[in-house]
This record gives sequence, C-alpha cells and structure tokens, in this order.
Amino acid sequence: MPYGENAKDSKPLLHNNNSAMKPINVKEKFSKFSKQWHPHQIATVDTMQVILAKIQGEFVWHSHDNEDELFFVQKGTLEMHFRDRVEIVKEGEIIVVPKGVEHCPKSQGDEEVHVLLFEQLKTKHTGDVQHEKTQTEYPKI
Ligand code: NI
Repeated sequence: MPYGENAKDSKPLLHNNNSAMKPINVKEKFSKFSKQWHPHQIATVDTMQVILAKIQGEFVWHSHDNEDELFFVQKGTLEMHFRDRVEIVKEGEIIVVPKGVEHCPKSQGDEEVHVLLFEQLKTKHTGDVQHEKTQTEYPKI
C-alpha cells in the first residue's frame, strides 16, 4: 500500500503512557514515596517496566523462571545474595539477575538503598514465593 493511503486506519502516535516523551527525574520520583520494598512504576517500555524501590534489610529468596531482572543502584550499596556468593553493587552500578537464578537483595549495613529495576511487566515481585513483603500492585508515579 502506498505511503499515506488509508491514513485514517493508522495508529496515532499518541498512547496512554503519560510519562512518555518527557524527561523523568529519577531522584525526584524517589522523593514521592517512602514505603520500603514496595515498587513504584515510573515508565513502561513495550512489555517492560521501569520501577523504583527503597530497600532496607533483607528481602525474600526467590527466582523468576522466565524473566531476567536488572537492578541499578541509584543510592547506597546493594548486596545481591546468590546461593553460592554475594555480589556488592555500588551506587551507579547495575547487576542483571538471569532467569531461574535464586536471589535475595539486601541493603548493605543499615542504610536505605534506592534501586531502579528494569523488568517485564509480568514479572512477579517475589516469583512463586508468597511472603508478607510480596506486592502485586505497583503504584504509578
Ligand atoms: Ni527478583
């Protein structure tokens, strides 16, 4: 079909993601919530989402059978515990947890750590593990 034909059937360039096409200040978004271990969504990218979490102490051992999970440390130092080792992830660093690998994020020391995660929209917070920390709804901020 020639370009421009049937234009009325083409999809508009607008979509329902309010945050799209505007700069997002991550630090400012972190200031909008204080609840720990409760991810907040700041953007979507196709089937992926960008979420923020404040963590302190130890999370829950879990894995995601079919999805990788990326963690970016915005503030503080994250300990990513694996069954065979611990990786220290410092401010400004990223770590990717491959699908199927058990992991347990933990803050180093007593400080609150600010983490940005990039993962599939369908990724469950604690995989198949049910825990009091498990969240199913991530507020959009
Ligand atoms: Ni995980």
